[in-house]
Amino acid sequence: MYQLQPEVISDRATAVGDSITLRIGALAKQMKAEGKDVLSFSQGEPDFDTPESIKSAGIEAIQQGKTKYTAASGIPQLKQAIITKLQRDQGLDYQEHNIVVSCGAKHSIFNAHMALINPGDEVIIPAPYWVSYPDQVLLAGGVPVIVNTSMASGFKISPEQLQQAVTQKSKIVILCTPSNPTGMMYSEAELRALAEVIVQNNLVVYSDEIYEKLAYGNNRHFSIAQVSDELKARTIVINGVSKAYAMTGWRIGYMAAASGIAKAVNKIQAQSTSNPVTASQWASIEALNNTEHQVQTMTAAFAQRRDFMVAALNGIPGIECLMPDGAFYAFPSIQSFLGKRSASGKLLDSASFCKNLLQEQNIATVPGSGFGAEGFIRLSYSTSMAEIEEGIERMGQWLKTLT
Ligand SMILES: Cc1ncc(COP(=O)(O)O)c(C=O)c1O
Repeated sequence: MYQLQPEVISDRATAVGDSITLRIGALAKQMKAEGKDVLSFSQGEPDFDTPESIKSAGIEAIQQGKTKYTAASGIPQLKQAIITKLQRDQGLDYQEHNIVVSCGAKHSIFNAHMALINPGDEVIIPAPYWVSYPDQVLLAGGVPVIVNTSMASGFKISPEQLQQAVTQKSKIVILCTPSNPTGMMYSEAELRALAEVIVQNNLVVYSDEIYEKLAYGNNRHFSIAQVSDELKARTIVINGVSKAYAMTGWRIGYMAAASGIAKAVNKIQAQSTSNPVTASQWASIEALNNTEHQVQTMTAAFAQRRDFMVAALNGIPGIECLMPDGAFYAFPSIQSFLGKRSASGKLLDSASFCKNLLQEQNIATVPGSGFGAEGFIRLSYSTSMAEIEEGIERMGQWLKTLT
C-alpha cells in the first residue's frame, strides 16, 4: 500500500497556510450542525439571496442550451456589460481585449500573480490585508512585503510608507478599497498621493474593488485607475459579482488591465480552468445591467447594521472600533483584553480570543492575526439585526467576566 511521504507535497503547497476565515466558518457550521445556537459574524458573504432576475437569467441560459465551453476569457456579451459598467461607474474606457472574466475575483488575482510574478519579485501588501493576498503571492513564487498600518491612520498606507517599502525587487502593490477586513476606503486625494509614488517607482497596482458598491453615507468609491491614463495603464482593476449582487457561489470575477497583461492572463486561464461557468456568465450580465435597485436595498440594510454594530461595540468598555466606510465588516481592537483569562484559558492573542469566544459563547468572529493585524478581530455585519443585537450584548457580558 502506497504511503504518502511528506516530500511528495510541493514546497509551494507547504509554504501556504489554509484560510483562517474558512476554518472558523467551518467550525461554526459544525457547531450549528451539532444543534448549538451559534451567532456567526465570521462570514465573508452577503446574507441576502441572489436577486430573482439574476437567478432567472442563469436558469434561462441553461434552458437555452448555453451549457458549453465559451472563450476562456469569457463571453463577449459579459465583457461588454463589464465595459459598460466601468464606463458608467468609473468613467474608465476599456475594450474587450482588456477584460478577462474568471472564476471569482480571487481567481482573477491569482491569475494576475501567475502572469506577472517571477521568483523573488516583491509584492507590497498593506496590512490589515485580505487573507489570501500573501499566500497567493507565495504560491506564485513572489515575496509578500507587508506594510503595517494603524488605527490612527485609519488603517491606510501613506505615500511615505509605500516609498519606504520599495526596493529594487518591488513590482506590485495591492490596494483594496473598500477594505476587507477594515471597511476603510481611500479618498481620491489619498489615491492620487499614492499614485505619485507608484509612478516614480514603476510599480503595477492591483486595485481590488470587489466591495465597491458597498459604500455608506457620503463615501464614494474612487478607483486609482481613474487618476490618469498613466495610472490606468499600470492598474489591474479587480472586481466581481460576489459581494454586491449576493452571488458568491456563482463564481464570477473579472479584471480590466492593459491588453498585454490581459493577454498573458488569458493564456494562463486557458491552460488551467478554461472559461468560468457559462450560465453564471449569462446571469452576471443581468446583475451588472439591471439590478442597481436591489443593490441599493441591500446596501441600505448593511448601512443600518453597520451603524448599530459599531455603536454597540464602542459601548463595551475596552473595545475600540472605527466606523467603516464600506464593505460589511467591523474591525475593533481587543487589545485591552489580551492577557486576561476566560473559563477555557488565557486570551493570549486574537486567535485564542476568538476560539474562547466561540467555544464559551457560541459567537464566531475572525482573529485579526489572519489579516496581519494582531490585537483586532473582524466581525461581519452581513447577518440579521436581531443576531447583531444579541451577539454584541452576549459578547459584552462575556468580556465583563474576564479576569
Ligand atoms: C478583498 C477581497 N477580494 C477578493 C475576494 C474574492 O471574491 P470572489 O472570489 O468571491 O469574487 C474577496 C472575498 O472574500 C475579498 O474579500
